[in-house]
This record gives sequence, structure tokens and C-alpha cells, in this order.
Amino acid sequence: MKVVAFSGSARKDGNTAILINNVLQELEKEGIETELFQLAGKKIRGCIACMKCFENKDKHCANKDDVLNECLEKMLEADGIILGSPTYFANVSTEIKSLIDRSGLVAIANGHMFKRKVGAAVVAVRRAGSVSVFDAINHFFFINQLIVPGSIYWNMGFGLEKGEVEKDEEGIQTMKILGENMAWLLKKLHG
Ligand SMILES: Cc1cc2nc3c(=O)[nH]c(=O)nc-3n(C[C@H](O)[C@H](O)[C@H](O)COP(=O)(O)O)c2cc1C
Repeated sequence: MKVVAFSGSARKDGNTAILINNVLQELEKEGIETELFQLAGKKIRGCIACMKCFENKDKHCANKDDVLNECLEKMLEADGIILGSPTYFANVSTEIKSLIDRSGLVAIANGHMFKRKVGAAVVAVRRAGSVSVFDAINHFFFINQLIVPGSIYWNMGFGLEKGEVEKDEEGIQTMKILGENMAWLLKKLHG
């Protein structure tokens, strides 16, 4: 079993990646393979609404000049998908919005190709707006028929500067329990 995680932060190894890594550690403890793919510094543009994915039906985006199709392939081969985003003006980052819009449309064009994978949202935030980010990512999971485990709180961690989120004990605990629950669910589905 494998879980692929995407950090949509513009900062490599920032708070979003730290939170995700806490989830991944728990999954690894349960023998589940993991991969963290950081979008920071990578080219990923928005959906251009060409609708070619509905004509081609080849499980890929017709726009092939950026990293999106590599992400799609990783999502397709995984049993679980984590989308992590920092809170930017009470919303997801541009990178995660692109991933949601383009992979979401390709998935629907190809018969809901992420159906019954396990999905989890992870959010980094300084102070406010993280619930909207959490919701935005979960909208993607639910319309694509993924199955979503919970934790002891909504999956968010508080911090401004890189690494500050490590001081948010409840946030880190939320990630660890999310990892345990994701592993439990994956084993029920595929064990
Ligand atoms: C463009 C931008 C917008 C931001 N907007 C918000 C916001 O609306 N609410 C908030 O609490 N923090 C906001 N922040 C702070 C980040 O969410 C916070 O620093 C987070 O930990 C960054 O995660 P990262 O280290 O993974 O990049 C913003 C940061 C940036 C760069």
C-alpha cells in the first residue's frame, strides 16, 4: 500500500511539509509506503478549461508542459492521497488550486478514477482561514468519491515561520492520529 502526499506550499520544507511528515511517519510505522512531493519551485499552471480531458479520456491533462501529469500518475498509483496547503488569504495556495482543478477534472472525465482511494487534507496556518482551506480540499475528495478519515480536530497546525508549527502540540497530535486512522482505514480496505 502506498500514500502519496503533496505539499502545496511555496516554501520547501515549510510548516505544511512538517505537518504532512508527521502523518507519513505514522503510516510508515504501519508498514505503508509513503512519498512526499513538494510543489515548491515547480511549474504548475491553472486549468485552461479546454475540456480536452473529456475527449482524450487518457487519464492525463492535455496540457503537458508542467508537473501536473507527473502528479496525476503518482495519485493514480497510490491507495491514499494527502493534499497539504498553507493558508493564503483564507484559501488554498495557487499550487494546490491547480492540482485540485486539473486532476479533479481529469478524474471525472475518466470515470472518477480516484474513486475509493483514501484522502486527507492537511493545512498550515498562522492565525485564521484554515477551515476554508480544509473545506476546499475536502470538496475535491468528496466529489471524486474518495473516502476521508478524521482525527481529533480538523487537520491543521499553527505557525508562521518555517518550523514554528512544531510548537503546536495539538496540531502535531492531530496529524499523528490522522496518520493512525488513515493506516487503519487503508488496512480495512486493502488488508
Ligand atoms: C501569501 C500569503 C498569505 C497568507 N495568508 C494567511 C491567512 O489568510 N491566514 C493566516 O492565518 N496565515 C496566512 N499566511 C501565513 C501562512 O499560512 C503560514 O505562515 C503557514 O505556516 C505557511 O506554511 P508553509 O511554511 O508551509 O509555507 C499567509 C502567508 C502568505 C505567504
